[in-house]
Order: sequence, then structure tokens, then C-alpha cells
Amino acid sequence: MMASENNSLIHRSDYQPLAYLITDIALDVRLDPENTEVTARLHLQRQSPEPASALHLDGEGLELLEIRRDGQSLPETGYAVDGSGLTLFQPEQDFVLETRVRIHPAANLALSGLYHAGGHFLTQCEAEGFRRITYYQDRPDCLARFTVTLHAPQKTCPVLLANGNCVAQGNDPQGFHWARWEDPYPKPSYLFAMVAGDLAAMRDTFTTQSGRQVALEIYVAERDLNACSQAMDSLKRAMRWDEVVYGREYDLDRYMIVATDSFNMGAMENKGLNIFNAKYVLASPETATDTDYQGIESVIAHEYFHNWTGNRVTLRDWFQLSLKEGLTVFRDQEFSADMNSRGVQRIGDVRRLRAAQFPEDAGPLAHPVRPDAYSEINNFYTATVYEKGAELVRMLHTLLGKEGFRRGTDLYFERHDGHAVTIEDFVEAMEDANHADLSRFRTWYAQAGTPLVKAHGVYDPKAHTYTLTLSQSTPPTPGQPLKEPVPIPVRVALINTQGEKAALDISGAREKVLVLEEATRTWTFQNMPDPVIPSLLRGFSAPVRLENPLDDQSRSFLACVDDDPFNRWESIQELALKSILAGVQNPGTVQTLPSALERALSATLQDGAMDPAFRAELLSLPSEDYVGEQMAVIAVDAIHQARDALLSIIGNHFHGEWLNLYHDLAAVYERDGLSIGRRRLRNMALSYLVYSDRHRADDMTLHARQQYVQADNMTDRLAAFQLLVQHPLHDAEDILMDFYQKWQDHPLVIDKWFAIQAMAPRADALRHVQYLLVHPAFDWKVPNRVRAVLGAFTMNHTVFHAADGSGYAFFAEQIRRLDDINPQTAARLATPLSRWQRYDEVRQKAMTQALQKLAAKPHLSRDLAEVIQRAYPGAA
Ligand code: BES
Ligand code: ZN
Repeated sequence: MMASENNSLIHRSDYQPLAYLITDIALDVRLDPENTEVTARLHLQRQSPEPASALHLDGEGLELLEIRRDGQSLPETGYAVDGSGLTLFQPEQDFVLETRVRIHPAANLALSGLYHAGGHFLTQCEAEGFRRITYYQDRPDCLARFTVTLHAPQKTCPVLLANGNCVAQGNDPQGFHWARWEDPYPKPSYLFAMVAGDLAAMRDTFTTQSGRQVALEIYVAERDLNACSQAMDSLKRAMRWDEVVYGREYDLDRYMIVATDSFNMGAMENKGLNIFNAKYVLASPETATDTDYQGIESVIAHEYFHNWTGNRVTLRDWFQLSLKEGLTVFRDQEFSADMNSRGVQRIGDVRRLRAAQFPEDAGPLAHPVRPDAYSEINNFYTATVYEKGAELVRMLHTLLGKEGFRRGTDLYFERHDGHAVTIEDFVEAMEDANHADLSRFRTWYAQAGTPLVKAHGVYDPKAHTYTLTLSQSTPPTPGQPLKEPVPIPVRVALINTQGEKAALDISGAREKVLVLEEATRTWTFQNMPDPVIPSLLRGFSAPVRLENPLDDQSRSFLACVDDDPFNRWESIQELALKSILAGVQNPGTVQTLPSALERALSATLQDGAMDPAFRAELLSLPSEDYVGEQMAVIAVDAIHQARDALLSIIGNHFHGEWLNLYHDLAAVYERDGLSIGRRRLRNMALSYLVYSDRHRADDMTLHARQQYVQADNMTDRLAAFQLLVQHPLHDAEDILMDFYQKWQDHPLVIDKWFAIQAMAPRADALRHVQYLLVHPAFDWKVPNRVRAVLGAFTMNHTVFHAADGSGYAFFAEQIRRLDDINPQTAARLATPLSRWQRYDEVRQKAMTQALQKLAAKPHLSRDLAEVIQRAYPGAA
């Protein structure tokens, strides 16, 4: 057995409705970093007339000071307290329970529940943090009206916030003041939040479609007030978009966002009081890159969209997590597609899916979008629940059409507003609103693994027909050896030799969604006078792997003429992938650029009319991770070398074109989409130039150095900085120093400084990362900083995966240390070790040894224990 606190499993099939409702909760919190006192008054109501023998309330790490039932002190025989909470014996039908507990916010380094960091009091209650604040039925189907009264010293905490509306405030003795907040919407405890500290607010207003005025407030440290405009503008755009696209209006008079440097996740949708990692709030051109700006836009929108998909309609239990997260990710992706370029957005979304979810779905941590069992729910905020969950919603959108999908969401909100529901309720609303039968679609939610779709097409020049056969299979995953077919929407066009889409039927449609429901099916298209090339899975219409056996000429042709941006990009990716894989098989042989890839890149380089952001996507190579995914055994070093070699070949071959692009795209800094695309493309040109021939590379690093010095924005500065720091032949110590000197007072920028170094494949890389961990600016208590070093280190493939196992051993040592501080972050960071089966035997051994070492750690957290247990059941 492992030395874990508790690794018993919770099963979806064990769900029991609440025996007691909590209709109201009044909290009174006296804030103090060391000793905070929380008094809770709960109005409990038994659902059935049958008497109950006991009632359990969740509670963790609480020191019970007082307990009363209906105003009377409870005798010790009336209740019991243990590590999981409070049990009341012989509870009545209706009663008021009052508890007073003591907690320790400053000692709360796990950042779950109430914590004190950077001088502020903050809460994080999703998924099960509320039980670390008070005794409660801490589960999402327990909806109550919350009233919260906060008391804190006026001097250190002039601002006191909680969900809903501020209904009263006043002064207490001894320099304390108080504020009372009421949230009129019953909510689960995971959406509870309070904040206290010395914060300044950027304020604005939004008028809803029905004419109500909403106060918008973003709370940050005073000095960051000038860095909130992207967040505020994004919020207003998101609010408008949800009205226009989903008919959903904001419901409170006030929407507050608080930014903090100490946060486990990206952001949290607490009702009316979002709490955000500062990374997704603060941006100025000098400190934030274009990617950072886009991240803010999408995360602000995501948390806002939860107000309907998650808060007004919430979850029955945590197995339904994708009901809110998958749907909300789909909504934020569509929002970003509408605000920016749809094609570029889709490429980015699929990149993320393939980088994180496909590997997860192919390894020991694979699980269905709606899992069947868990030990620690925090471990189920996964790429599968989020990214694959969003793809399932997208497929429903594709199958039902835009209007049908909207009918479905309208019905879903109408039926379930104010309730805690299931994924099944969502699918049923989609069915009922469209008189559709989605019974087979439900398999997508229950079955793990990425389906493989194989395509086979035959053109018959005599009969003028094109016959397309599609077949599917899904590999086994842990606990699911046998798989059923799932309905796969495959968006198709057939492209003729003129580069036009052929009519697919007598109605003249030039694009169709074929639904592959069974293991194999054949479609025949009539009246095809010319041969055609199939453009399959357009827009990546389903989360599958596609084997479409086209020759290089056809791919190159599609790369030039396909009007589906995703498939155009995919065609070049396939050509580049093939070339890198050839280099992996025969090290040192990739000396020339394959002609099909050459033509595709050349056409892209010459097309000055194309959207520059899209052009940059077409010109980028598949990541090392993606290449590795395509191999039976991931050849870490060979992939790295082959990819670098191709970069340098492309850099050389188009040297003149890259130089022209680099010079032509120089521009004054602006924030519009076109300027962002131009910067992206220009920095890509710079990176190809730096990777071109060695003797040239020396010159090109001068360009990079110059850009680093002269840049008036972080996008350009960081692009140059990263090239210089990560280039194998360049010594950049002076630049590292310079960067640190300039930005040492900007934590988000210093995170980048740490991360770029931790990813640098320098000869002394491991020693350098060790040095980063003892750098004065490193802080084990701040998750952003820890991720900047340890998270980035796992992406430094040749070092993390060093054949001698030194990277794994070092990494496991750090995870051990982190687990005592922040288990949730430790468990998340440890997941790359779960991919051990994908490497050669020597590495497998080193990786499983690292896992074993972690398994033997004393006081192993439930979070980390579960990850290790599932990653390597053999760990003793
Ligand atoms: N509800 C989550 C935040 C959360 C995640 C709380 C895990 C507790 C545990 C929030 O809506 C969310 O999904 N945040 C994402 C960012 C989002 C844009 C995908 C995050 O924090 O990574
Ligand atoms: Zn979310």
C-alpha cells in the first residue's frame, strides 16, 4: 500500500440526493492571517418525513470552537468530529445549526479554501475548498442563499468583497470595519468567494440588452491600475456576445474581478466575484505579449460565460464537470473565433487538443469525458474534460446546425435554470428541441480513447463516380478494453484539378457532413467528370486521428487551394511531419527540402494578400511533442535534431524571402489583429533566420540582439530574447542579466524569464535549472513561479528525458518537495511522468523509478497519490 492519506474511490453510480436542504447560510468571518474565526448559521430542512439517524457535514482542518442547534449549545453526545467533518446525531426535521471554527489563512499554502497571500485574503472553493472554511454539505447540488459579513482591520483591508450585493457596512472597535454581502441567487458552495485587502479598482459600466446598468470592477494592486484595460474591454465584449449569440443577459448589478499573483489555476467563476490569476488580467504592451493579450480575452470570456453555463445552471455532482467546462470552453472558443480570425483560432484549439488531450487519452490517465470514478476531484480538471468535452459540444453544434443548437441551449436554460443537473439533461434538451435522436452520440461521453478514422477513396473515370470509404476503431484504454463505434461527423469537400469544390449531389452542395456511425461505411458521389482530391474532416469536425492516404503532390495541391483554413494548414503539417520523421529514421539525411513541402511553403511565402496570422500558422513546423506522438517509441533526441535540421533547411532555402519579410513587416506597435499577425509572422521569419546555416546564424543573432534592444513591446522583445537564450550556439548571459534587471519588479515578466531558461537546451541545462530553483526570486509558494521552472523544464525534452535519467530523478525530487506545500499543483506538474510507456526501455526504467520514489514519499497527498497510482499501478 502507498503511504497516502486516503485513496478510496468515489463512484458516479453511488450518487444519492441530499437528505437535507440548506436553504440559507449566514457567514460571519473575522479575518486575521494567523487565526480567522468563521461563524456559520445554516438553515437545514429534511427532504423526507422519515427521521434520519445522522447528518454529515464536510469539514477539513477546522478547529471547532462552538456548536449550537436552534440556539442551544449541543452536548458532546449530540455530534462527532473527525478528519472528514462533523456528524450530527438524531437531527430534527428543520433546524438552525450554528458553528464557530478557527482556521489559519497564512499557513494555507495549498491555496484551497481561505488563504492569505501577498497581503490579501482570498478564497478558492472549487471543487472542495469550502469545507476548509466551515462545516457544510460541500457538494454542488446543495444550493443555498448566502449572506456574508466580513470583519477586518480597516488599515490593511480597506476593501471587503463577497458574492452579490453589498447591503450594509460599518465600523467595529479597534480599527476593524465590516461589510455585509447578500447573493440573491441560491448557489453551491464551490461558487462562494470573499476577498479582503488593499486593492484599487478600475471601474466601468455595461448596459444590458434590457437596459439594466451593471457596475464592472476590476480589483488589482494600485500600481497595476493602468494594466486592466484589455481585461475590461474583453469583459464588455463577452457580455455583449452572450446576449447576441445565446440571448443570455447578466443577472446581478455588479460584476467584480480580483487579480492575484497566488493562484493555483487560471481563473475562477465565483458568482459576481471572479478571482483571477494576475496573468489573465494584467497587460501592457511593455510587459505582455500578443499571446498574453489573447489569453486574457479568452479567460475573461470563459469565466463570464460560466454565469449561465455553470452558475445559473449548475452541476449535480462532479462527474458532470464537463457539463460546465466543456460547454464553456466551446463558448469561449467561439467567442474568440468571432473576435479574431476563425481559421487561426481553430488551428490553435486543435493544436492544444492534440498536444494535451490526445496523449492523455492514449495513456494510463485516459478517462471518459464523464468519468465513472475518482479519488481526488482536482485531478479531473483535465484536457479530456475540458478540451475533448468542448469538441463533443462542437460536434452537437455541427450535427444540429447553428439554429438547432441554439434551440437546444434555449430549452436547456429554460428547463434547468436554478437547478443542479447532469450531462444527460443537456443532451436531452438538445434532442427535445430538435426532435433528434442522440442515443448513439452519448457513447462519446462514456468512452475514453481517440478514435482512428481511416479513409479510402477511389475515382472511377468511366462511371464518373468517387467512392469514399471511412472506417473507425478506438484503441483500448484502462478499464475499457472493448470499444463501440461512435457517430463521427466528417465534413467533406471534393476538390477537382482546377482547385474547385465539386458539386456533391443534385442540389449542388459543395460541402457535406457525412456521419460515420458504424465501423465502416461507403459513400458514392455521382457526376464527377474530373478526378478529385478529398478534403476530409474540414475544420477538424471531430476529435479523431485521421489517416487519409494522399500522396505528397495532392497534399501540396490542397495546401495551395483548399478553402478550408484548417485543412490547408493540416496539409502542410503533414508534409513537414513526413519530412521530420524521415530525418528521425535516417539521422543526418535531411539535406534538401522535399519538393512538395517546398512548393507549399513557397506559395505561402509569396502570397502577400493572405492574413499574416494565418500565414504564420502555415509556415510553422509541428512541435516536437506532436512528432513524438506519431511514433511508436518517442525518439527524443532524434526528433529534436531532425526538427532543428528542417528549421535550418527552410531558413536557408528561403533566406531571401525571410529577410524580406523581416524587413517589410517592421511596423509601429499597434494592437489590432492585422498588426498582431504581422508581428507573429515577422518573429517567425526571425526564428528561421536564426536557425539558418551556422555561418549565417552568427549574423542573424545580431538581428535578434538588435530587436531585443530596440523593441518597444514585449512580443518582439521576448521573441528575440527566447531565440537568443534557447539557441544552442549562442551565449546570452549578458541578455539574461539585462532582462532580469529591467523587469525584476514585474512578476509576470520574471515568470517568462524563468520559463525560457528552464526550456533552454543548453549543455549545462540541468545545473542551470538547479540554479534557477535557488535564485532569490524563486518562490515555492507561488504556483506561477513553480510552473515557470518545473513545468517548463518538462518541455525541455532533451534534458528532462536525458537518457541517463538525471532529468527524471531531479524532477521527482522537486515534486516531492512541492507536494508538502501545494499538492494540487504537484499532482498536475507530475503528469508528464505518466507517459513513460511511450519511451525506450532505458527511459521507461528511469521514469518508473522516479514514480516509485514519489510513491514512497511520507505524507503523500491524495492528489499526487492518485496520479502516481494510475500512472504506474506497479508502484509499491
Ligand atoms: N472553474 C474553473 C477553475 C477551476 C479549475 C477551479 C480547477 C478549481 C479547480 C475555471 O472556470 C476554469 O476552467 N479555468 C481555467 C481557464 C479556462 C479559460 C479554461 C483554468 O483555470 O485553467
Ligand atoms: Zn471553466
